[in-house]
Amino acid sequence: MKQHSPPYRKNFQWISKMNRKFEILLKNAGEGNYAIPSFNIYNLEGATAVIKAAEELKSPVILQILPTALETGGAPLVQMCLEIVKRSKVPATVHLDHCSDPDIIFTAMAWGINSIMVDGSGMSCEENLQFTREMTLKIKAAGGSVEAELGKMTGEEDGQTLSSQEELMTDPDKAADFVDQTGISALAVCIGNIHGKYKNPPVLDFKRLKEIRKRVSVPLVLHGTSGLPEEMIQMAMDAGISKFNVNTELRSIYLKTMASCFSSDPGVELVTIMKKSITAMKEAAKDKIRLFRSIDKA
Ligand code: 13P
Repeated sequence: MKQHSPPYRKNFQWISKMNRKFEILLKNAGEGNYAIPSFNIYNLEGATAVIKAAEELKSPVILQILPTALETGGAPLVQMCLEIVKRSKVPATVHLDHCSDPDIIFTAMAWGINSIMVDGSGMSCEENLQFTREMTLKIKAAGGSVEAELGKMTGEEDGQTLSSQEELMTDPDKAADFVDQTGISALAVCIGNIHGKYKNPPVLDFKRLKEIRKRVSVPLVLHGTSGLPEEMIQMAMDAGISKFNVNTELRSIYLKTMASCFSSDPGVELVTIMKKSITAMKEAAKDKIRLFRSIDKA
């Protein structure tokens, strides 16, 4: 791993002025017994759909970008999301999702993203702790916020298969130590949640989640929300989840809408596809926002 020395800091002075919005959004959600919807964004249609959904329901929202999407869209994708957030009528922010590459983390920060999910979950416990601590120190010094994961999720994200063998749930004792030693702002838990489609009915370990909640002071995050039944989402919030990550459901609605536009009219106009996919994703995002009880919390 490359060492990033203090000169980074001076490039980020302005980020501090953004006042750790990520932390405030999650803290308010925890205090208000609701959760912040956090949707993965790939392009203009996705960002527009999500922000319209949040505005129509007066919900705070997070637009999050995976490194694969960042690689494809680069600085213009980030600028577009930041601009949409700046113009929105609801509290919103842009977040870098699942990143284990310091170069990408600091590039994203230089482009204006000020909350980062530092993902060391593919490393050993000890390496994850060291990596997360080092990144958190630098990101916080630059005025940013950090979400990190302890344990290891299974499933698929953007076609990349994560280990299905070594499922590793978050250990409540280690979680407290991890948070204390790293100084992170939010902890993503592994309690049986997976990315992508649940091939079998999901089983979440709520007892473990409650134990983690008791021992950890920072807000908790649940990844892999697509496909979780309503009652599990409610139980997860009651047990202390303050942010839900949603990718697969919106992404597949987008792809299905495009496919159906083409199959019903091979000469369809691009702008028609854009409008229809924005509407379809917006309605799906609104369904999630209702589940997360964040309506009227803007
Ligand atoms: P899903 O794709 O299962 O909704 O998970 C999204 C996620 O956790 C992104 O970090």
